[in-house]
Amino acid sequence: MVLRQTLLAAARSDRLRALASGTRLTRGVVDRFVAGKHAEDAVRAAGELAEKGILSSIDHLGEDTEHPSQAEEITKGYLHLLHLLSEAGLTDSAEVSVKPTAVGLALGGEGPRLAADNLARICAAAAEAGTTVTVDMEAERHVAPTLRLVASLRPEHPWLGCVLQAYLHRTEGDTAAVASEPGARVRLCKGAYAPDPVTGHTARRDVDAAYVRSLRRLMDSEAYPMVATHDPRLIDIATTLARRFGRTYDGFEYQMLYGARPDEQRRLADLGARMRVYIPYGADWYGYLVRRMAERPANAAFAARSVLRR
Ligand code: FDA
Repeated sequence: MVLRQTLLAAARSDRLRALASGTRLTRGVVDRFVAGKHAEDAVRAAGELAEKGILSSIDHLGEDTEHPSQAEEITKGYLHLLHLLSEAGLTDSAEVSVKPTAVGLALGGEGPRLAADNLARICAAAAEAGTTVTVDMEAERHVAPTLRLVASLRPEHPWLGCVLQAYLHRTEGDTAAVASEPGARVRLCKGAYAPDPVTGHTARRDVDAAYVRSLRRLMDSEAYPMVATHDPRLIDIATTLARRFGRTYDGFEYQMLYGARPDEQRRLADLGARMRVYIPYGADWYGYLVRRMAERPANAAFAARSVLRR
C-alpha cells in the first residue's frame, strides 16, 4: 500500500518525469509496456496483434497538457495515427483511446471547449476511417467534466466509448446511467490513480466488490461492456455473468494492457472472445509507466532488475 501511494505520487512529479525521460536506463521497461515512440510503432504492434485475432485500442501517450499548442500537437498525432491505421487496413481491429487532458480538458477557462473541439476532430476522423474512439478516465477531478464531454459528443458519435473506475463511490450511479443507453460502449476498470478515501474505495477487496457490482449491472443492460482487467477472478466472473445474461462472445469484450498477460490475451482470443489490447506509444511514457508499477510490485521489480542489469 505504501509503495503504491509513493509510486502514484511519483507519477505526478514533474521533476522525476524530467529525470526519468533523460535516462536510457529505463528502456527495457518502456519496451515491455510501450509499443514505441512513433505512431508507426503502434500500428505495427496492432498489426501483429490482429494476426493473432486480437483487437487493439491505441493511446498516444501524453496527459495534463499545459498549453493549447500541446493539445493541438496530440490531436494532430491522433489524426495521423488514424490515417496510418486506415492505410494499413487495420480499422476493423484497431481503434484509439484518448486522454481528455491530453487534448486540453484541464487547461482551465476554455479547456473543456478546446477538448470538445479536439475530440470532435478525432471522432470525425475515426468515423471516416471506419473505427471508434474510447475516452480514457483520469484523476477524480476530471471525471465529471469527462462524462460531460462524452455525453456532448455521443449524439453525433453513438459509438464513442467511456471508461468507469470501480474504485470511485460515484461509479455505481454512473454505471446505472450509462447502462440505460442502448449500445453504449463502457470500459470498466478498477482505476489507476490515487483514490481519495472519502470518495473512493482504498481496500482492494472493496474495489473488487464494487467492480463486480458495476459489471453485473452492465452485463444485465443494453450497453456494450468492455471488461478491462488482468485479474483472473474478475475475468472468470465476467465470463459467468455474460453467460448468465445471455451474451455471446460478440456482445462484450475483454481488455488488457500491452505487455500484461500476453498468454491470457491469446487464450481468450483463441476461445473466440473479443480480446482488445490497449497499446500506448509516444515519448511521454513516464506517468503511464509509473502507474503500471504502482499496480503491480512485479512490474516495479522488473524495472529495478532491468536498471541493475545495465
Ligand atoms: P490488479 O492490478 O488489482 O491485479 C489483480 C490480479 O491480476 C493480480 O493479483 C494478478 O493476479 C493479475 N495481474 C494484474 N496485472 C498483471 C500482469 N501485468 N501480469 C500478470 N498478472 C497480472 N485506469 C484508469 O484509471 N483509467 C483508464 O482509462 C484506464 N484504462 C484502461 C484500459 C485497459 C484496457 C486496461 C486493462 C486498464 C485500464 N486502466 C485504466 C487501468 C486499470 O484501472 C487498473 O489500474 C489496471 O488494469 C490494473 O488493475 P487490474 O484490474 O488488472 O487488477
